Amino acid sequence: MARLIGISGSTRKASFNSALLRAAAALVPTGSTLEIASIAGIPLYDGDVESAPGVPQIVTELKDRIAASDGLVLVTPEYNNSLPGVFKNAIDWLSRPGSDVPRVFGGKPVALFGATPGIGGTRLAQAAWGPVLRALGTQPWNGASLYVGGAEKVFDASGTLVDEKVKQLLTKLMAGFVSFIDEK
Ligand code: FNR
Repeated sequence: MARLIGISGSTRKASFNSALLRAAAALVPTGSTLEIASIAGIPLYDGDVESAPGVPQIVTELKDRIAASDGLVLVTPEYNNSLPGVFKNAIDWLSRPGSDVPRVFGGKPVALFGATPGIGGTRLAQAAWGPVLRALGTQPWNGASLYVGGAEKVFDASGTLVDEKVKQLLTKLMAGFVSFIDEK
C-alpha cells in the first residue's frame, strides 16, 4: 500500500502528459493512492526571491506533499530533445533550500514516464531527467519503461486513455512501482 504523488510537466489544459497521469491515478493498485499535484503557478526561480521574501508558499506546500508521500510519479513532456524548462524550473524551486533536499527527495522512489504526439515517446526527455534525479538523491525506479508516442491516437478528445496496449503497460508499471515501494 503506497501513497503516491504525481506531477505532470505540462500546464496545458489538453496536455497528453496530464492525461497520462490521470490514467495512472485511475490504474493504481487497490489500496494505494496517487494524488495529483500541479506545477501551475510556480514562478520562475529567482535567487533574490529566495533570499527575501523566501521560498514561495506554493512551493513549500508542494515540497511538504512530496515529503509526505511514499513515492513520486513524474510524467514528462519532451521539448527540443530534452526535458521541459517549465518542469525543471518547478523541480529547481522544490530543491530549495538545498539543506531541505534530503527531507523532500532523499531516497524517494521515483517513477518516470511521458507522452508525445511524436514517435520518440519522450525517450530523450526521460534520459535527461536521469542526472537531475541523481543530483536530488532520489531512488529512480527502473523496473519498467513507458514511452508513449503518437499520443493523439492514444487518448480520445476528452483526454481519456483509449489505447489498450498503453493501458496494459501503465497498469503493470503502476503495480510494479507500488510493489517496489511495499518491499522497501
Ligand atoms: C515540443 N514537442 C516535442 N516532442 C517531441 O517528441 N520531441 C521534442 O523534442 C519536442 N520538442 C518540442 C519543443 C517545444 C518548445 C514544444 C512546445 C513542443 C512536442 C510536444 O511533445 C507536444 O507539444 C506535447 O503535446 C507536449 O506535451 P503535453 O503538453 O501534451 O503534455
